[in-house]
Amino acid sequence: MPIDPTRPSPARIYDYHLGGAHNYAVDRRAAERVTAIMPELPLIIRANRAFLHRAVRSLVDAGIRQFLDLGSGIPTVGNVHQVAAPGSRVVYVDVDSVAVAHAQSLLAGHDDAGVVRADLRDVPSVLGAPEVRRLIDFARPVGVLMVAVLHFVPDRDDPAGIVAAYRDAVAPGSYLVVSHGAASEDERAPVTADAAADAYSRSVSEFTLRTRSQVAGLFAGFELIDPGVVYVNEWRPDDPGGEPARRLAQLVGAGRKP
Ligand SMILES: C[S@@+](CC[C@H](N)C(=O)[O-])C[C@H]1O[C@@H](n2cnc3c(N)ncnc32)[C@H](O)[C@@H]1O
Repeated sequence: MPIDPTRPSPARIYDYHLGGAHNYAVDRRAAERVTAIMPELPLIIRANRAFLHRAVRSLVDAGIRQFLDLGSGIPTVGNVHQVAAPGSRVVYVDVDSVAVAHAQSLLAGHDDAGVVRADLRDVPSVLGAPEVRRLIDFARPVGVLMVAVLHFVPDRDDPAGIVAAYRDAVAPGSYLVVSHGAASEDERAPVTADAAADAYSRSVSEFTLRTRSQVAGLFAGFELIDPGVVYVNEWRPDDPGGEPARRLAQLVGAGRKP
């Protein structure tokens, strides 16, 4: 897919919010429009990235040494292969050409990490990709990461069915990590999330918020690990005794395939 600098892209907007340089004016304008509706969006994005790091460290502690990062984004500080234990194998998968090009240049010379341009909804293409076959041993547990990506998969594409297809492909002892924009039907989520998701859907890409029970439903066939599906800052905080962090409209969780 050629890069189109006239259309905003979720990967480049995310990079902009994280302070990266891989974005165009059209991305920055779209990012600012959504942030005007939901001023906490940059906080959510940074909290999401910090959650990704905590989740990968938890999986490393559980013995996971290979990761499939679906919707991995434009490489930024603390990519999975940098946070995982040395010698871990990581495959980054993204549908966005800019994200894939940057990942490829970052990973040049890293034999234990690879990058695939694919749509995660096309599970056979992802699982059959040569870099996935080269790096991931499906007879051993895998950490499947779907971090801030499933809200780009609308209900008509059956996100639960897609997750289940990955679950069925991985060995017992594998983990699924999810973070997901929280719907305001959830009694504690801020209503501004709905308006921001509408604006994002109109100007960038269809965006589906989901409730806590819908996000928990994505873990069918996995056993949720502590603390279950919670708001992003509540998941295994680095400083559990510290100030309670601000509640942000992003739900997260991790589960183990028994
Ligand atoms: C918000 S970024 C999240 C990046 C990273 N996972 C993180 O949490 O820091 C979402 C990424 O998912 C990618 N994406 C969206 N839909 C996708 C799909 N169907 N298949 C693969 N990647 C997708 C976008 O291109 C973007 O890079």
